[in-house]
Amino acid sequence: MKTESGALQGRRILVAVSGSIAAVKTPLLVSALVKAGAQVRCVVTPSAAQLVSPVALASLSRHRCYQDDDQWDPREPRPLHVALAEWAELVIVAPLSASTLARWTQGMGDGLLASLLLACERPVVAAAAMNTGMWSQPAVRRNWALLADDPRVLRLAPESGLLACDRIGDGRMADPELIRLAAESALLTQASNGSLPWDWQGRTVLVSAGPTVEGIDPARVLSNRSSGRMGVLIAQAARFRGASVHLVHGPLQLPLAWLEGLHCQAIESAEQMQEHLHRLQANAAAVVMAAAVADWRRQGGASVQKAPKADLQRTLAEQLEPVPDLLKELQATKPDGQRLLGFAALSGSDDEIQALARDKRAAKGCDLLMANPIDRNGQGFGAAMNGGWLVKTDGSTEGVPVMDKLALAHRLLDQLVDCF
Ligand code: CTP
Repeated sequence: MKTESGALQGRRILVAVSGSIAAVKTPLLVSALVKAGAQVRCVVTPSAAQLVSPVALASLSRHRCYQDDDQWDPREPRPLHVALAEWAELVIVAPLSASTLARWTQGMGDGLLASLLLACERPVVAAAAMNTGMWSQPAVRRNWALLADDPRVLRLAPESGLLACDRIGDGRMADPELIRLAAESALLTQASNGSLPWDWQGRTVLVSAGPTVEGIDPARVLSNRSSGRMGVLIAQAARFRGASVHLVHGPLQLPLAWLEGLHCQAIESAEQMQEHLHRLQANAAAVVMAAAVADWRRQGGASVQKAPKADLQRTLAEQLEPVPDLLKELQATKPDGQRLLGFAALSGSDDEIQALARDKRAAKGCDLLMANPIDRNGQGFGAAMNGGWLVKTDGSTEGVPVMDKLALAHRLLDQLVDCF
């Protein structure tokens, strides 16, 4: 797994493992956290220790792995569950089993893991995993709903997939790569009392991301270098803050696990993107156009026959038409109160970029426009970092320092939510 940002560097993360077969994936998570520079401690329940080796977790975290027998070890200077809960800046429960969920929500502290969850005052990322039948039990669903009352808890519901019990259904633990992203998000956004922001709760957000691809013929396309990272991270950041998120995206170059938990619509052409955006616009409180829509397309779509190289110049000159501006269209059809955030990929001097961005915001009519230079090393298309200027409706621009795209996603959501 690739290290994506510095948000985990030096941070103290406690990984709590309870008894679900998904525990076999937890070593991948621990390894990714350590590679990203985090200090990690692991705690396993007795059933988790049957499924995943505490020795493996100790090796990967570079620290002993704690078990129930350690809780009252006379060599520990302080009660271990309290010491660990106070040490951690963030707790990740992965996987969260039905029994550990029940203990936690009923306030039972039997066992090291259960008691440290009660002692913990920091954010907790909880990734549930269990058999589909267990997950659908009213008692389990009630306990899961109870967790939503705690503003420190970021819940990652089980995903659908083939389960170890051979059933296909909800129950699979969120991918370790998504859990890592949720952990970064929680560390970036926690308040001093450990609460996470829930300011997008109850709102639907529509996001476009990635490039569009316009076919010329069976071999050739017109597209661009967008990886989709900025848009997908805005989508996940909004979801982590409580929104229900629809994502319309072109071909992406990023971990597929980053799409978990979003309502996704994969497209290729601008026409397909346009169709889905118009279908989904009415119910959205905010629309974020992070997609890099291709500027030109062949009239009537891709030709069935491959154009000979000699004809290509003429074909392109005669048959290309501009792609309609989707952001402008969304501005024209938006319902009352809907907020629109656009992007502008620009190059030039700082002053030139700000002037172009002001004109572009005015022309497109969006509430906010994030202008980002794409001609500077380490930022822009495909990079992990981004920065630039945010243009508002009054034409004022605010400098945004270069930062990790997940941090920028949260900053843009802070600004967008202020527009309501
Ligand atoms: N956009 C759009 N439809 C298009 C082109 C762009 O909705 N056909 C949106 C993008 O999603 C982005 C904003 O408009 O939010 C600005 O995109 P950008 O590519 O920077 O600008 P363009 O309008 O294409 O202008 P230019 O390429 O000339 O700078």
